[in-house]
Amino acid sequence: MCGIIGCVGRRGDTLDTVVHGLSKLEYRGYDSAGVALVDGDDLHVVKKSGELDALRSVLGGGLEGSVGIGHTRWSTHGPPTDTNAHPHRDCTGDVAVVHNGIIENYQTLRDELGAAGHSFQSDTDTEVVPHLIEDELAAGSSPETAFRAAVARLEGSYALACVVAGTERVLVARNDSPLVLGLADDATFLASDVPAFREFTDRVVYLEDGEFAELDADGWTVTDADGVAIEKSVHTIEWDAEETGKSGYDHFMLKEIHEQPRALRQCLRGRVDELGGRITLEELGELALDRVHLVAAGTSYHAALYGAELLRSSGVPAYPFFAHEYATSPPPTEDALVVGVSQSGETADTLAATREAQRRGVETLALTNTVGSTMARESDHVLYIRSGPEIGVAATKTFAGQQTAFNLLALATAPPADARELIAALRDLPSDVQQVLDESTAEAVADVYLDSDAYFFIGRGLHYPVALEGALKMKEITYEHAEGFAAGELKHGPLALVTADTPVFATVTGDGEQARKTIGNVKEVEARDAPVVAVTDGRSDVERYADHVLEIPESHPRTAAILSNVQLQLVSYYTAAKLGRSIDKPRNLAKSVTVE
Ligand code: AGP
Repeated sequence: MCGIIGCVGRRGDTLDTVVHGLSKLEYRGYDSAGVALVDGDDLHVVKKSGELDALRSVLGGGLEGSVGIGHTRWSTHGPPTDTNAHPHRDCTGDVAVVHNGIIENYQTLRDELGAAGHSFQSDTDTEVVPHLIEDELAAGSSPETAFRAAVARLEGSYALACVVAGTERVLVARNDSPLVLGLADDATFLASDVPAFREFTDRVVYLEDGEFAELDADGWTVTDADGVAIEKSVHTIEWDAEETGKSGYDHFMLKEIHEQPRALRQCLRGRVDELGGRITLEELGELALDRVHLVAAGTSYHAALYGAELLRSSGVPAYPFFAHEYATSPPPTEDALVVGVSQSGETADTLAATREAQRRGVETLALTNTVGSTMARESDHVLYIRSGPEIGVAATKTFAGQQTAFNLLALATAPPADARELIAALRDLPSDVQQVLDESTAEAVADVYLDSDAYFFIGRGLHYPVALEGALKMKEITYEHAEGFAAGELKHGPLALVTADTPVFATVTGDGEQARKTIGNVKEVEARDAPVVAVTDGRSDVERYADHVLEIPESHPRTAAILSNVQLQLVSYYTAAKLGRSIDKPRNLAKSVTVE
C-alpha cells in the first residue's frame, strides 16, 4: 500500500510537483503524508498525520530544492502519527527514504542497528532503511553503493526512493511493489502509479522486481542488482490527465459511476462483430478454456463469481477462489487456466495466487484495467477491461468492466446458445446503463432508509455476486452494517436478522423460475415486516411485494446483472453522501492493497 513519488529537474517547482503527485496518489493511502527536498547540502523533511491537506497546512512557503520525494501512507506498522509518517531519516538527518511495501526482516535489522547505537523515532519497518544507508555512508561508500548495500539486506516487498543531502539525485529500488518512471523533456519522475505525473508526461518506463534506478539532472538509468545497465522500453500512456480529475462531480465515485456507459463502450469497441455474431479477442489468440480457476479479492472476487457462473453455464468448468487462499492452499490445477481478476493488477494476494500458478507451470490470464501493471506483465495472456483510471477507493465502473469483459471472454471461448441475443444486449448495454443513470430514483430510496439498523441484499444466480457487491459497496463507504446473501440461503439462518428496521434489496429480473423463487424469498422478509426495495426490469410481479422499486431496462439475463448493480451503486453512494461519509477515501481502506 502507500503511494510514493519523486522528481528531479523541476527546480523552483519541486515542492508543488511532489504535492500534486501525492494528491493523485492519495487513493493508495491517506493516513499521513510527507515530503523531502534536497537543497544543496540541506535536506528538508516535512510530514504530518492525516490527509494531504494536513501536510499542506504545515508546509508554508520557502521550501526550496531541485530534487524531491513524497509519500502518502496506509498504515501497516504503527499508528498514523506524525512520527510514523514518511519520509524517514537516519541519525544524521542526511538520508531520507519513502517506502511502499513491507520489510519482513525489519525487527532483526532494527535490533542489530539499535545495538550498534542507532536511535529510532518511529514504529515503522521502513526506518531501518535510512539507518542501514547511514552505516554504509559512514564506512565510506558512495550514496549509490550505500543504497544498494542497504537494499541487499532487505527481505519483503518494497518500492523505495531515497535522497541524500548534497547529492542531486533520487535512488530507487523495486521488489513486489509497483514503480514507474515518467520521462518529460525537462524532468524525470518516479511514482507508484502514472496519475502522479501524467500532467507532465505520457512517456513511462515500468520497473521490474530486482531493478534499481537513478534519476538525476542528466536523465535516468536502470540497473540490475549487480549494477549492470538494463535496456528498458519506453511506453506511451493512452489516457489524458483530465481523466484523473473530478470533472465537476462531488466525488470520484459518482463521476466513475456516471462514466460507466463510456467505459463499457471502450471495453466492447472493436471486439464485437454483431453481423457475424462473433466476438474477437485478438489478444487471446487461440486460447482454449478447458478448466478455469479465477483468483481475486474484494469487488474483483465478486466479478470472478459472476464470470465463473457465466463460463459454467456455457459448459466450461470454472471456479472462483479467494486469491489469498489460493496462494496458500492451491487446488489441483492440471489443464486449468488461472485467471487473475484485478482492477489494479497490483493486489498482493492476487499476484501471490497467479505466481503460485506460474510456479507450478500453469498458464495464466490477467483480466485487469491497468496497462503495464505487474499482473499484466507477468501473465501469459492479458484481457484489458479498458475502464480508464479509477480513483475512488470503491470500485464501480471497473466492476461493470469486469462483468462485461467476462461476457466477451465467455462468448469468444464458449458461446451460449443465445449468443446473438447476448451480443445485441451487449451492444445496447452502454445506453441501457445511461438510462438507469438518467432515471434512477436511488437517491430518494437512500433518503427513506438512512436510519436503518442494517442493509441486506439478496439475489440468485448471476444476481448473487451483485448482492454481495451491493453489500460491500454499502459497508465500505457508509460504515453501516450490510450483508449480501444468496436469496435461497436466507431461510437457513440470516432471516433471524431481518426486522422492520432492516431494508432488504432484492434483485429480480426476468419472469422465469429464478425470479419466481426470489419473489418467494421477498415474501418471507415482507412477512417479517422488513421493507423491500426491488431492483427489477418489470417482467415479474415483484412490485406487488415491494415498498420501493428501482427500475432497469429489459435486457439479457447476463447483462441484467450489470444493470441492477448500477442501481445498488447509486443507493450506496447517496446513503454515504447523506451520512456525510468520506466517500472517495473511506476510513481504514486504500484502493490498491499491495501487502498480503
Ligand atoms: C472494492 O470497492 C475495493 N476497492 C476492494 O475490494 C478491491 O476490489 C480489492 O482490493 C481488489 O482490488 P483489485 O481489483 O485492484 O485487485
